[in-house]
Amino acid sequence: MAIKTHSVRVWDWPVRLTHWSFALLVPAMWITADNSQWGWHMRLGHVLLALLIFRVIWGVIGTDTARFSSFVKGPLAVIGYLRGGYDEKGNKGHSPLAALAVLALLGLMSVQVGMGLFAGDPFDGATGPLNPLVGVMTADWITTTHEWFWWLVFGMIGLHLSAIAIYGMVRMENLVGAMIGGRAEKKPSVSDNPPAQWTKALSALAVSVAIAGWIYAGAPPFA
Ligand code: HEM
Ligand code: HEM
Repeated sequence: MAIKTHSVRVWDWPVRLTHWSFALLVPAMWITADNSQWGWHMRLGHVLLALLIFRVIWGVIGTDTARFSSFVKGPLAVIGYLRGGYDEKGNKGHSPLAALAVLALLGLMSVQVGMGLFAGDPFDGATGPLNPLVGVMTADWITTTHEWFWWLVFGMIGLHLSAIAIYGMVRMENLVGAMIGGRAEKKPSVSDNPPAQWTKALSALAVSVAIAGWIYAGAPPFA
């Protein structure tokens, strides 16, 4: 029996904008590294850094479905989800299992970006802006790790895309459409996610751009 649904706002524009930027920037980071386009690797890397900082701030001050506190649940909720006890149409936002994938994706991207800031060899090729803050041996270890860690990021993205494809086929849920347009079909009991407040979004953007800019400058002391 078809259940009655209505169109509900589920994802605010900052979540969607950061998401599709990640989906473009991460492959771009790999392509620029693979082609030794270090100028672009650095520039785009700082844009990615600013967006990651923004998403973390937005995860605290953003709308309901953007907040970590609203979707990160304990192991019991994840087990309940795996046993089929989660009502997709009666809830909006990331499911308890998807929340783990979100944390893994944001976490792995942050570690990769964080290592890139210190990577490189000052006597040979490009270096991240914070490279002078660590010794040559440490930077060398970080660079080697940055080179292979990429495969973990890549693997997690593969898992992310497979999960979405399988979910779409098994549950007939158009998750991708919701991440593009921001809306999904939900039960009548589910209400709209509130719209993003521009003042909050712009403040979060200003803070993240300022931090990324300061790092780009090599994190100079304030005094
Ligand atoms: C480099 C590639 C990608 C990365 C790093 C990535 C990362 C993420 C992250 C961090 C989230 C959580 C969103 C948030 O709350 O901020 C997410 C959710 C999502 N992503 Fe991606 N993504 C990538 C590519 C894609 C692509 C290509 C698609 C579609 C074909 C896609 C579809 C989705 C969907 C549908 C969700 C929402 C899942 C849900 O309903 O819980 N992603 N992704
Ligand atoms: C998701 C983000 C990133 C990915 C996927 C990525 C990927 C890679 C890969 C695959 C390499 C190895 C290339 C090779 O030697 O063949 C590399 C090297 C490097 N990356 Fe990244 N990177 C990311 C972020 C960053 C950031 C944010 C920075 C700094 C702002 C950075 C700075 C560097 C540097 C300095 C090297 C070494 C260059 C050299 O060997 O001369 N990366 N990156």
